[in-house]
Amino acid sequence: MSKNFDVVVIGGGPGGYIAAIRAAQLGFSTACIDEWKNEKGGPAPGGTCTNVGCIPSKALLQSSEHYEHAGHAFKDHGIDVKGLSLNLPQMLGRKNTVVKQNNDGILYLFKKNKVTFFHGRGSFVKGDANGYEIKVAGATEESVTAKHIIVATGSNARALPGAPFDEELILSNTGALAITEVPKKLGVIGAGVIGLEMGSVWRRLGAEVTVLEALPTFLGAVDEQIAKEAHKLLVKQGLAINLGVKIGEIKAGKKDVTVEYADDKGNAQKAVFDKLIISIGRTPNTNGLNAEGVGLKLDERGFIAVDGDCKTNLPNVWAVGDVVRGPMLAHKAEEEGVAVAERIAGQHGHVNFNTIPWVIYTSPEISWVGKTEQQLKAEGIAYKAGTFPFLANGRARALGDTSGMVKFLADAKTDEILGVHIVGPMASELISEAVVAMEFRASAEDIARICHAHPSLSEATKEAALAVDKRALNF
Ligand code: FAD
Ligand code: NAI
Repeated sequence: MSKNFDVVVIGGGPGGYIAAIRAAQLGFSTACIDEWKNEKGGPAPGGTCTNVGCIPSKALLQSSEHYEHAGHAFKDHGIDVKGLSLNLPQMLGRKNTVVKQNNDGILYLFKKNKVTFFHGRGSFVKGDANGYEIKVAGATEESVTAKHIIVATGSNARALPGAPFDEELILSNTGALAITEVPKKLGVIGAGVIGLEMGSVWRRLGAEVTVLEALPTFLGAVDEQIAKEAHKLLVKQGLAINLGVKIGEIKAGKKDVTVEYADDKGNAQKAVFDKLIISIGRTPNTNGLNAEGVGLKLDERGFIAVDGDCKTNLPNVWAVGDVVRGPMLAHKAEEEGVAVAERIAGQHGHVNFNTIPWVIYTSPEISWVGKTEQQLKAEGIAYKAGTFPFLANGRARALGDTSGMVKFLADAKTDEILGVHIVGPMASELISEAVVAMEFRASAEDIARICHAHPSLSEATKEAALAVDKRALNF
């Protein structure tokens, strides 16, 4: 016997579980199906983000930053730490506890909102505009039906041809978050978000980290001035970043991995690593969904094809998050999940793609929203730019973290904020002010006229806004 619901969500990551909660809040009988298993085989909702992404990576970034600070940054503050040592099992254990707290939190939220949870793999059996049948293959097999289906099946790490992930020597994000002994030499292919975050974690814990990046420019999507500053700071910390390389053969031995590559001058190079992280992007996950069986259309890159409202080609079937076009970010997936639930309820769910913030959690952090200076130039938009360095910010000095800057880009005529870019302490938190401002289509002058608490890092944001009209007060 099938269990019938108004809405069934396939996938319990940030896109799926948030869509399910919002649908339930709107009064729909809702189920969420997720197949992720914890080490005991039990449910572990939260998807990539909670289990092997955002949450565990930020837990390790925090722990490794504490370790690095205790090693030398504390000294400046007059705190001498003697007998410092690393307890990696404890650090990894803490990370696992943080993950479990999040898994349990989602199960609690499902109960609270009366979302029925199914642990297993969901796949389409049949259906049309009147409703769909979904098979759930878990410890037992069940059948559920619903008028509306939201697909939120996420993404998987992309492997390099000839170098499949074994999670022992050749690691995806999953293995990179669970290395049980600090590698002496760690190789990272891809200087993107994962490469820089995971490279930072293991460098701080003592690994010699070499990053190999195909593109000749560092962080091409980031504002050039900010990327240049970030590159300088990360190299100074000891990350060896090699740009413009062409990866050749990758051979896993018994205890190490050999990577052959051509450097940016075309010279043949060979490097031997104790572990190799491959972080060259992610691919949409439609495995086992039986998309073809019901005629659910994918695009040429394997993403579920959707329109601007996350509607697929099938009536009443929606898709959100990493499995559809757009940035692969947890908060983008969540926004789409909420918007779809609201559209099912006949409301006007909204996602503003122009104001989705990005954060790279290196130290210092890098964050941005809106257009980069190079994009504005390419689009022929006349703009004004203002920057303010943290070196001139009192709170940053008190913190002992004065690297980086805030940069504002505003329309030359109207002064509307077009982009804000930050490299520096707490950039992940500071960017929210810019997102709010841009969502309300504020001008740089609006921010410049708002009273910011002193001493605070956010004063650098106000000063950068003032700098747009060359009126910075403290620099
Ligand atoms: P996912 O989180 O991938 O969830 C999909 C879920 O669906 C999974 O649980 C999967 O098991 C399940 N599933 C798939 N197919 C089926 C099926 N047929 N039946 C049942 N269940 C199924 N983003 C940020 O915004 N901030 C960060 O700091 C950040 N850090 C990251 C760090 C790393 C190392 C990685 C890898 C990613 C990070 N991301 C971050 C990206 C973020 O994790 C993703 O954008 C986000 O998880 C996408 O959410 P989703 O719901 O679309 O998919
Ligand atoms: P990425 O797209 O951020 O970076 C991949 C990098 O690998 C690029 O610089 C690319 O030029 C390079 N590359 C591609 N092929 C290569 C090759 N053959 N040889 C060498 N270099 C190559 O992808 P990444 O780091 O795997 O992360 C995937 C996604 O996960 C991110 O784009 C982001 O959406 C999400 N994520 C978000 C985080 C955050 O918000 N803080 C943290 C981690 C991941």
